[in-house]
Amino acid sequence: MNKIAQRTLNIPPFIVMDVLERAHELERQGRDIIHLEIGEPDFPTPQCVCQAAREAISRGETHYTHSLGLLELREAICAYYYEKYGVSVDPGRILVTSGTSPALFMVFSALLEAGEEVIMTDPHYPCYPNFVEFLGARPSRVKGYEEDGFQLRPEAVRKKMGPKTRGILINSPANPTGNLLSESRMAEIAQLGPPIISDEIYHGLVYGEKEHSILEFTDNAFVLNGFSKIFAMTGWRLGYLIAPPQFIRPMQKVQQNFFISAGSVSQWAGIAALKYAHDDVESMRAVYDERRKYMIKRIRDLGFGVAVEPAGAFYILANARHLCDSSYDLAFEILEKADVGVTPGIDFGKNAEGYIRFSYANSIENIREGLNRIERFLKTHGR
Ligand SMILES: Cc1ncc(COP(=O)(O)O)c(C=O)c1O
Repeated sequence: MNKIAQRTLNIPPFIVMDVLERAHELERQGRDIIHLEIGEPDFPTPQCVCQAAREAISRGETHYTHSLGLLELREAICAYYYEKYGVSVDPGRILVTSGTSPALFMVFSALLEAGEEVIMTDPHYPCYPNFVEFLGARPSRVKGYEEDGFQLRPEAVRKKMGPKTRGILINSPANPTGNLLSESRMAEIAQLGPPIISDEIYHGLVYGEKEHSILEFTDNAFVLNGFSKIFAMTGWRLGYLIAPPQFIRPMQKVQQNFFISAGSVSQWAGIAALKYAHDDVESMRAVYDERRKYMIKRIRDLGFGVAVEPAGAFYILANARHLCDSSYDLAFEILEKADVGVTPGIDFGKNAEGYIRFSYANSIENIREGLNRIERFLKTHGR
């Protein structure tokens, strides 16, 4: 029998996908499932973006592009960062990727030797430590605390820093907590020394305080961003990274070898998104905000703990410790008995065990029905 390489065998599964796949199985059996587990916009991609893609196809823009990405797109990204955050970025510091996920892979592969470390918060986006460990490096986790929205504490980060630290990973607004890292903490973390890897994929989806780019505080940073969430473009697979200039050529070589270039049609669509989809984004944001307020109130009424009201992304990480020891078992019980998909906290790290992540990337009607079902489930099961 052929042997399977250990690094592939060792990658943990993405538990939310296990929930989703079981939900799909139940749907095939005729059950009606409400999806509050998925971190994917339920809105269609804005029309101006689809139109730009159709036009690109008609023009025959259907081939490889420059490995760094179309210059027009990189210029549009620079204009966007300037307009939004007042930071000047040269297009030569940008590499366009097939989603934020390959951008994460490229940044970690350029930064990390085996045995080196990246500091990150727990809870975190599930894939972060998996990328790092795949490269033979080590995630160094800092515990987040519910009472301050699980934000990274600069002092705790400083204590974790050592000779092997090669980066500090931040994600604001964050998955799974929906919280923002405050401006003052971001400024402090930016000055700690190691480069900051800032996953800005949920930028634009904020409902109170303005979000900040790490580039407002330091150039010793890698920005990762993408079109999946803010523009409802998950299937277009388009993202980018902004890096210190000396890292671009090495990462470009990774891109050339592993991916060649991001998709040409998606890149033309991305230009339209950055230039013309502002109003679409604003209306999606307003709808998310309505759902957010509704969901926070309902899940608190159901007895779940929400210590800090999440003000970004489309998630609520709710404390369910009074209901379970194992968030995995609870999530599957809710799925099997209440026909509602939710994500177990354990997917996001040990520190989120006993929590459930609810996503409001679903219509208010579905959210209402899903929470009604959970309410009945809690009553009938004496919880
Ligand atoms: C925090 C975070 N980063 C990155 C990604 C990956 O996004 P993309 O679709 O751009 O690969 C996700 C997707 O859920 C995410 O939540």
